[in-house]
Amino acid sequence: MFKLGLRAAFGRSRFVRPVIREMEDKDFMQNFMYHIPTKVHFGRGEIGKLAEEIKAWGTRVLLVYGGGSIKRIGLYDRVVGILNENDIPFMELGGVDPNPRITSVEEGVKLCREHKLDVLLPVGGGSVIDCAKLIAAGTLSGSDDMWGIVTGKAAIGKVLPVITVLTLAATGSEMDTSAIITNLETQEKTGPSNPGMRPKVSIMDPEYTFTVSRKQTAAGTADIMSHALEVYFNNNKGAFLQSRFAEAVLKTCVAYGRRACENPEDYEARANLMWAGSWAINGLLTKGSPVGWSVHAMEHELSAYYDIVHGVGLAVLIPHWLRHMLREDNVWKYVEYGVNVWGIEESLPDMEIAERAIEATGKYFRDMGLPETLRDVGVDDSRFEVMAKRAGAGLGKAFVVMDEGDVLEIYLRAF
Ligand code: NZQ
Ligand code: ZN
Repeated sequence: MFKLGLRAAFGRSRFVRPVIREMEDKDFMQNFMYHIPTKVHFGRGEIGKLAEEIKAWGTRVLLVYGGGSIKRIGLYDRVVGILNENDIPFMELGGVDPNPRITSVEEGVKLCREHKLDVLLPVGGGSVIDCAKLIAAGTLSGSDDMWGIVTGKAAIGKVLPVITVLTLAATGSEMDTSAIITNLETQEKTGPSNPGMRPKVSIMDPEYTFTVSRKQTAAGTADIMSHALEVYFNNNKGAFLQSRFAEAVLKTCVAYGRRACENPEDYEARANLMWAGSWAINGLLTKGSPVGWSVHAMEHELSAYYDIVHGVGLAVLIPHWLRHMLREDNVWKYVEYGVNVWGIEESLPDMEIAERAIEATGKYFRDMGLPETLRDVGVDDSRFEVMAKRAGAGLGKAFVVMDEGDVLEIYLRAF
């Protein structure tokens, strides 16, 4: 055991709060493998790179999209125009729902297999991209059990290349290895993570997000914040750099989330949110420390049963999750969060900084117009026990190890 003092220039309070911490062996940055090969074309007009990127990866495209937003913003016509001008054959799978269904995956796999399509081109938000990733994995799997692939019962082998055109800043799916799918029959929402599903190329033009509604903008910002917070709140004091990266992502959301809600065509706000969304979950923040993903586990139960907007569910749960985990011996992390992200006066008592930081987080969500309780989003209390049991099963790596009893308490407080 030894003592370490750290001070670095960062943030509104000028300095990261000086930390004198007891360090143990477990506190050193853990070994990791870092490989994020997604090529990103970021900015206005970058869709112009689409044809050359598709040609580098395949010959026959499945264009995947949602309920029609890309048609309303003219992006569908632009993409189809590019494909036609470049003689790239394609088929379409439209109508992918938010919280994408396994039935859309099955439909897409059928199209790819029957027509020998070899590149997935999702144009949309996380739901569309996740659906395309599972189609890409399912097509070459040799299995007809797509739900088995989602749950991990059937193995993922080779995966078709995925090239995304992102239209909503939120999930980070455009640069990560995960895909989350809903099965309405079994009321399950889950998904695998596989390096092969990481998009090969992502085209990210912030202007495409100008039309995202206030509600989805706020929900997306809460999702990005949740990705950063669930990584940031961990017990490893040695991954200092990752904590500062996480604070940068969080500060970006605080600076621009509300601004984008109020002025949807603010390019600076949209661009910063878009890039923050990618970096929150592409591996930069997560490597080097254990990650619990506890709020996500709790939220996925809510959207599996009630089909609510993912980021809305997270925003309701986060303040209660933070408060539930707060202890005298982990308050140091809340102090870092309060001082470095929210600019709370560092001379205040630690517990007061923690309380103010939790309060500021909830207030920010409310200021963006997000609901405050589960009741407000149409969730009733009839299934809390069964949801808590399912969510509580995998929370051994949470900042404070939690079980189904903890989850139940958080649901009840959020109700
Ligand atoms: O369906 P369309 O018509 O495209 O409309 C969508 C949808 O109604 C709309 N939208 C998207 N871009 C728009 C737009 N409306 C106007 N203008 C635009 N430019 O927004 C609505 C929501 O879209 P969706 O794709 O569902 O949102 P999001 O990107 O938040 O994705 C949520 C899904 O991703 C999963 C969530 O659980 C949820 O199923 N997640 C995926 C992750 C991953 N792959 O790593 C991690 C996340 O934590 C998350 O779990
Ligand atoms: Zn999320």
